[in-house]
Amino acid sequence: MKRHLLSAADLSRDDALLVLDTAEELARVSDRAVKKLPTLRGRTVVNLFFEDSTRTRISFEAAAKRLSADVINFSAKGSSLSKGESLKDTALTLEAMGADAVVVRHSASGAPHRLATSGWIGGSVVNAGDGTHEHPTQALLDAFTMRRHLGPLTDRRVIIVGDVLHSRVARSNVLLLHTLGAEVTLVAPPTLLPVGVETWPCAAAYDLDSVLPKADAVMMLRVQRERMGAAYFPSVREYSRRYGLHAGRLGVLPEHALILHPGPMNRGLEITAEAADGARSVIVEQVANGVSVRMAVLYLLLGGSEPG
Ligand code: NCD
Repeated sequence: MKRHLLSAADLSRDDALLVLDTAEELARVSDRAVKKLPTLRGRTVVNLFFEDSTRTRISFEAAAKRLSADVINFSAKGSSLSKGESLKDTALTLEAMGADAVVVRHSASGAPHRLATSGWIGGSVVNAGDGTHEHPTQALLDAFTMRRHLGPLTDRRVIIVGDVLHSRVARSNVLLLHTLGAEVTLVAPPTLLPVGVETWPCAAAYDLDSVLPKADAVMMLRVQRERMGAAYFPSVREYSRRYGLHAGRLGVLPEHALILHPGPMNRGLEITAEAADGARSVIVEQVANGVSVRMAVLYLLLGGSEPG
């Protein structure tokens, strides 16, 4: 494993499998009455969130606490400093406090990379979502969830549907699933596919109904309206009809296929209640698995190489 986790591309196939296998072991701790291991006692993990988050922030917090690390939550939202300044000043403060790991979410793509390569801090940097770029621990928890149900992901068909353009989840998933040997197809209206998507290690399609029947898993993406300055599709109704996962489409999806969504969901837009709450949905499991996967990441970055 590298010292930082900035991109899903930082993980070799062996690294990725090590994280997933370690998470599988650590998941047993979460099933116990006392959900705690002493592994990271005396280490400090800082959650540095410059952008809104519900599950990712509490998931990292729970993960660090279950490994007995000291956790400092820093929510930088509302800071009046310019981004560059605030990032550097904050980093120097964290370094002075002796942070062993900094988990960072930022609206600017590349902010975690900047932190990791600036020399401002000595600890490990974990990217918890940067702009429209990457969200590697989300991809790891998605792979973990799929692997639990489907077995090894080699040659499994995963469809990622919706607002790929603004989605750091999609990019990290494409990279990680490719590393793990899965076949990924992105499905979106042409306006919501990023420029250069043909260079990504996946296929792309515009028609959801033609790819659904062969899917082993379908991952619905949130339509990120807060990142949309212009209109990317004619109307909500039109989007739901062409790209939403609704009752009509559930019949076309194979019986064994899983339904994933990273959350937060726009119910009624990209996914209906029948799809989100039905038997094939693993959306709530994704959240639970997120804690085990983030425990594995923190353990491997901070404590895994130390004897005892
Ligand atoms: C995602 C994110 O913030 O990148 N959510 C998450 O981390 N669970 C996806 C989203 O916001 O749509």
